[in-house]
This record gives sequence, C-alpha cells and structure tokens, in this order.
Amino acid sequence: MCGIVGYIGSKNAIEVVVKGLQRLEYRGYDSAGVAGISNGKIQIVKKNGRVDILKQTVEDIKFTSHVGIGHTRWATHGEPSDINAHPHISSKGKVAIVHNGIIENYLTLKKELQKKGKVFLSETDSEVIAHLLEEVLEANGGDMIASLQIVQRTLVGAFAVVILSVEQPDMIYAIKKGTPLVLGIGQGENFLASDGTPLVQYTKSVIYIGDGEILRMSAKDFQIYNSDIQEISHKTSTLEMELSMIEKDGFEHFMLKEIFEQPKTILDSMRGRITADFSEVKLGGINKYAPQLYNANRYLFLACGTSFHAGMVARYVFEQWCRVACEVDVASEFRYRKPVIHSGDAIFAISQSGETADTIVAIEEAKEHGANIFGICNVVGSTISRVSHEGAYTHAGVEIGVASTKAFTAQLTVLYLFGLKIAQSKGTLTAEQIKQYNKELLAIPNQVAEILKMSAEILEISKTLKDAHSMLFLGRGVQFPIALEGALKMKEITYIHAEGYAAGEMKHGPIALIDENVPTVIIAVKDSNYLKVISNIKEIKARKGKVIAIITKGDKDIPGIADHCIEIPETSDALYPLLTTIPLQLLSYHTANVRGCDIDKPRNLAKSVTVE
Ligand code: G6P
Repeated sequence: MCGIVGYIGSKNAIEVVVKGLQRLEYRGYDSAGVAGISNGKIQIVKKNGRVDILKQTVEDIKFTSHVGIGHTRWATHGEPSDINAHPHISSKGKVAIVHNGIIENYLTLKKELQKKGKVFLSETDSEVIAHLLEEVLEANGGDMIASLQIVQRTLVGAFAVVILSVEQPDMIYAIKKGTPLVLGIGQGENFLASDGTPLVQYTKSVIYIGDGEILRMSAKDFQIYNSDIQEISHKTSTLEMELSMIEKDGFEHFMLKEIFEQPKTILDSMRGRITADFSEVKLGGINKYAPQLYNANRYLFLACGTSFHAGMVARYVFEQWCRVACEVDVASEFRYRKPVIHSGDAIFAISQSGETADTIVAIEEAKEHGANIFGICNVVGSTISRVSHEGAYTHAGVEIGVASTKAFTAQLTVLYLFGLKIAQSKGTLTAEQIKQYNKELLAIPNQVAEILKMSAEILEISKTLKDAHSMLFLGRGVQFPIALEGALKMKEITYIHAEGYAAGEMKHGPIALIDENVPTVIIAVKDSNYLKVISNIKEIKARKGKVIAIITKGDKDIPGIADHCIEIPETSDALYPLLTTIPLQLLSYHTANVRGCDIDKPRNLAKSVTVE
C-alpha cells in the first residue's frame, strides 16, 4: 500500500508526479502530497483526500519544479490528514522523503532523535527517515550515498524511500527493502515509481531496484550501488504494459472493465498451455522443480483476500483430481500458528500483486523448512514471483480496481492447469478425463462472455438490494469459496454486511439471521450437491427470506422457488467456479453503483497490502 513516484527532467516534475500518483491511487488514496524544489528550497504540498484534491491545489498555485517526488497514502501510523500525508521534511529542511512500507523500529529511533532536538510534526513512522537521514548526512560530511547506506542498515521493516535533497537539487536518491521500486529510463529524464503504471506513458525501459540497493539518478543518468556501496549494473527490462491497459477504455469503472475482460484474460492464462489435441497441459515455468511438484506428499495453498479464495477452490479440486492431502490457509494465520512444514511440501503462493507482505513472509519461512514454493502471481517480476522456486504467471494484465475480479479467475485457471498437470503425472485422472477437462476449460471464455450479456438483468436484481443492510452468500463444496468471494466482493464495494457460509452450515447459525430483509444469494448449479442446495433454498423460503439463485441454464425447478434466478451455462462440477463467480461480481458491482459507492476506490481498502 501507498504509491510513490519520482521524476527528474525537462518536464514540469510536479505535473508528471501527480499524474503518476493518479495511476497509483489503487495502492492507497486517503491523502497525497508532492515535493519539488523552488527558489533553492524544498516546497511541499500535501492534502488529505484523493489525488484530485492535490492536483487542483498544485494547479491553483502553479507549482512547478524540474525535480519532484510524490506519494499517495494508505494510512498505517496516524490518521489520514494533511500533516500525516507524505512527503516528510527533515528539521532543517535539507531532505524530503516519501516512503512506502513500514518502519518497525520507528519509536526507538524517534525517541533518540527527539532527545537530539528533532521536532516531529506527524504521527507517522515515515517521518523518522527524514530526520535520521539529515542527522547522518551531517555526521558524514553530506555524503549522501554513505549516509543512505547507514540509514538503510538502521531501519528495520519494509521500505521503498525516495529522497529529495536541497543541496543536490539535480538528483533524486532512493533506497529499498521489501517493497517495490521501479526505475524508468527516459531520454534526458528519469522516473521512479512503485510499479510500471506511472511510467508506461513515457518509457518502457525499466530496472527493478533490488533489496538493499541505493539509487542515485539525475536527468541524464543513474547509478545503482549494492549495500557495500559498490556500483552494480542491472539488466534493463521492458515493461509489458500498454497505456490502454491502464485506462478505463469507455467503461464507467475499472472494475467493470476488468469484469468484462475476463473472456480474454481467462484465455490468456491458458494460452500455449494446453496442447492442440487437448491431451496435455504444458507449464513453461515448471522445470527443475517438476519432480518436487509431482511427488509432494502435501499441497499447501497460501494467500490473502480474494487470492485465498482461489486457494480454497484449488484445495477441493486438487484433492479430487490428484488424491493428495491439501491444506489452505491465509498467510497471516499460517505464519503465526507454528505450522508443521515438512521438507518436500509443495506450497502454492497465490498473489495478484506478488507483493502481499504476509504471503511473502509466510513463504520465506516455509522455504527455510525445506518446502518448495510455486508462485502464482499476476505481476511479472514481483517479489513473490522472485522468491518462489518456480511457478506460473496468471496473465490477467494490469488490474486496477481494488476489488479483484479478473485476477481471481486467472488464478483459478492457472490452478486448474496445475491440478491437471499433477493428476496427469500421478495418473490419478485418465487421459480421457484430462482431455475432457482441457476441452471444457477452453470453452469457459465463451461461456463467461455469455454470462456477461446478462449484465442488464443482473442490474435489475441489484436494484432490489439497494437498501439491504445484511446479506448471506451460500455455496456447497467447491462453491463454498465462491460464496465467500461473493460476500467479500459485496462488502468491499457496497459496504452491505455480507456473510459467506457453507450452505450445509446454514442450520448451525446463519439461519437465525434470515427474515424478509436479509437476502440470500445461493449457488445452486446442477452439480453433485444440487439436491441438498434445493433443500437449503426451501428452508430459507420457509422463513420468508428472499433468494437470488445462481442456476444452471435449463433448470426447471429452482425458478419456481427462488425470487430471482441467474442462469449460467453448464460445465463440470470442478470448473463451475469460473462461471459462478461472474454473476456475483456483476451483482456487487451493480449494487455498489446503484448505492452510489466509489467502486474503484472503496473506503479503507488498498489493492496491495505491503505491511504485515
Ligand atoms: C488486498 C486486496 C485484495 C487482494 C488481497 C491479496 O486485500 O484488496 O483484492 O485479494 O490484498 O492481494 P494479492 O495481491 O496478494 O493477491
């Protein structure tokens, strides 16, 4: 969470930085700020609220500078406010910093610096970096690289810090550990950002700064040093991103655009991975660790949020297809429950961003115990993709809406491919079954397109939910995680309280909630649990509950019982989640829209949670 940007060159840096912050707003959007150099002094403008407010302010005061750094915040330490917004400046005004991450030893450092007379203005952990750097610079004759080495070693936690110095107005410096930072190389100008989205409009030539490294950049060139201050060279990468990918493209919201992209993104996640005769799955990212993957005694799926729900689906599917014990856990829980990890366990780390701090820490620990880590990430080059032994990218493209949609279905797709690959190697599915599943997987994109055509109908159902205070989402078996995901989407963007439950558990508690004002969404497709789910619907109706059912096309029974039905095409039991999740995404999207919610930037949330 939090997005940072830096620019130096011939353009107005303030404009470039603010535009970059707008692209990064999905990372945090409670306050924003920018710093530049004007009349030989660091000038800072920072505002509580969205980047738009900052943009208006810098335009009103005609703030210009050839160098600039900026930040859009998701508050951890200190409430969102003008004062707590970044950049933070040191006591004597020598350096200003923006920071993404968390400084765990900030209280100790703050106390020491306060004793030395430093006056802190904000409640943030980040401000300590500015005061510390100024002090270390004074002790080191203004040698910035040497000082940054000391600061880097002093700080405990995760950070990407971009620094502006009044004494070196033609330079930007940066240090990094744990949170992402990308250098964009331009012609007579250079850029820094938390990811490629602010850069793609200007350059596709990038360098991913590594942990422990120190960067100095001017408009013309840059140097990168390792933690021992030796200059190092990095290979330049090409951003795999187009400007059109990060714009709304005529859709009202990024979330809606991303929902509608799914026929393509699901296909992209399978592209080149299923042989033309459907007989085999090919995963290019699995080479050296293939035996460890196929012969593992246990599969563990670790993730957070929506990605955790993809892991839950995978547990059902892998158990069925591969006949191996599977476990799934949220990374933050796994880490702290002293898990039993056997050498040789295969762990799937599932993450859209590849930067979720809890997931990173959990897999690092598992790695130490000898587990083999297979990363399933969307963002190419992300931390999880790098710390995993091997893995596969999901190829969903840039996801900007904070509520994850296309990344989820891409994760499911890739997990299905892994399941089939392992089952094939183990012989737990027959060649005929593998072929059949592959054929069905390849049919999914068109089936998703068919469901998307029902958007207007789903909007009408959403209108009936406009004033709901509480909702239930029920599903059985592999649909249970989809019920959880449906409830998560609903609460994230509509702020309606929504609970996801295993339908079989309904009688053990949630049924007490049901009355005419608590609508239930139930996944009731024609799978092996169908008859049991019908009983659940009847139990709800007997208590005057309103039922919205996701059913298989052609079902003649449920339309006579449920209040609203959304029909989806038929597929295998195991693959249904790729279809059932689509109407639930549209249902929460439209409900949020009719309630007038800020769909792409729901309150208190951030797309990527880079603090534990
Ligand atoms: C945040 C986002 C969720 C996401 C979760 C895990 O909570 O708001 O949409 O599912 O992080 O993120 P990851 O990038 O690891 O999938």
